[in-house]
Amino acid sequence: MASLLLGLLYATGTRALDNGVGKLPALGFNTWNLYQCDYTADVLIEQAQAMVDHGLVEAGYSTFMLDDCYSLKERDQKGKIVADPEKFPKGMRHFTKSLTKLGFRAGIYSDAGYRTCGGYPGSYGHETQDLETFADWGFQYLKYDNCYIPFDNVTQENVYGRYVRMADAIEARAKKTKSQPVQFALCEWGWQQPWIWAGRLGQSWRIGGDIRPWWSALSSIINQASFIATETRFYARNDLDMLEVGNTNQGTPPGNLTYDEAKSHFTAWALLKSPLLIGSDMASASKETIEILENKDILKINQDPNVGEAIAPFRWGRNPDYTWDPAHPAQYWTGNSTYGVVFMVLNTQDTAQKMSFNLTESWAIRAGRVYSVYDMWAHTNNGTAYRDISLTLPPHGVAALLLNDAGPEPAGVEPYCAGYWQCSFPNGTYYSN
Ligand code: GAL
Repeated sequence: MASLLLGLLYATGTRALDNGVGKLPALGFNTWNLYQCDYTADVLIEQAQAMVDHGLVEAGYSTFMLDDCYSLKERDQKGKIVADPEKFPKGMRHFTKSLTKLGFRAGIYSDAGYRTCGGYPGSYGHETQDLETFADWGFQYLKYDNCYIPFDNVTQENVYGRYVRMADAIEARAKKTKSQPVQFALCEWGWQQPWIWAGRLGQSWRIGGDIRPWWSALSSIINQASFIATETRFYARNDLDMLEVGNTNQGTPPGNLTYDEAKSHFTAWALLKSPLLIGSDMASASKETIEILENKDILKINQDPNVGEAIAPFRWGRNPDYTWDPAHPAQYWTGNSTYGVVFMVLNTQDTAQKMSFNLTESWAIRAGRVYSVYDMWAHTNNGTAYRDISLTLPPHGVAALLLNDAGPEPAGVEPYCAGYWQCSFPNGTYYSN
């Protein structure tokens, strides 16, 4: 049982559930942003086909998540969830088989309360039965929401306890059937610090409420993520919510992300190692949208098989650091990767800004070295740098850089140390004196 296992995990110091699934962030599509409840199997398969046609599945976007509203409002006499026969006239198995044929793994949605947020049957009290149904239908991934939860005196447990119920069901089923556990994506909107405990139960957890396709919503999520960026690791991911890339001029009210904002959005989500689930229409997607989503340099860092940690801020770039500001989140971020040291610089201002940082502000940089600089948006080598990098970014724009060691600094560069205030000669005299 997950709850029993817990004690053991603590004892060994392991904080992520490594049950063999979901080591890396999930990439794919989620139906909610684009369709809400308005879809049929045919429409979704067309969407899946458009993803194949654009090369998105090949690029790694291979989880297709069926979100809310797929069932009838009531269970059948045996308590089983019934797929809506109007939306899925050929049945759910036919639907997941069609997805599998196109190269996808199918994912489904349910809820830890009595009803889903759309008012369809939720899995509270039906965890084992529903999991059976989902698995039988061919789903291997479960997003688990938090609406219509029972009264305290009914459950006498908290959000945590209701998610443990499903985690236990997943574990028990995997054992019984000797099959791979269903991947578990918790969605309790960051209510009760899931970044502390959700990694024991599943592979990702939403860190906040629903995303919207405008900058203030994105900057607010980035702000939230900046304080918990270090909680993401292999098998356990902060989920920043579905991507809004491509939703400019679409939806109600329509999205209004600029090209630069869409790039910043994708960069932050990918380098923070969030799951990346597309939520816009791929059949009518613009060339820019596809180019953003298929940025190979950035995707390969999101999917780094050797480094599980995400980038994290090293400086907020405004005073004071470490303060909560949904409109102006941290601007200077770094992390390590198989491919080099990663920097993300984000201009959170509404005007163009010159931005500068010292390379050794990044923990992953070796002091006293020269680095080659690769631009992960221009896909160009931009020469070498030592000590400082300065760049000018458009409003809400981003730079994503990959730095690799290119030898020692030229002799005699002053000051002798980038962080000179504790730097000393061998005889104990401070350099700064
Ligand atoms: C919300 C959830 C959304 C979507 C929706 C479906 O609670 O955050 O991502 O799943 O429910 O009703």
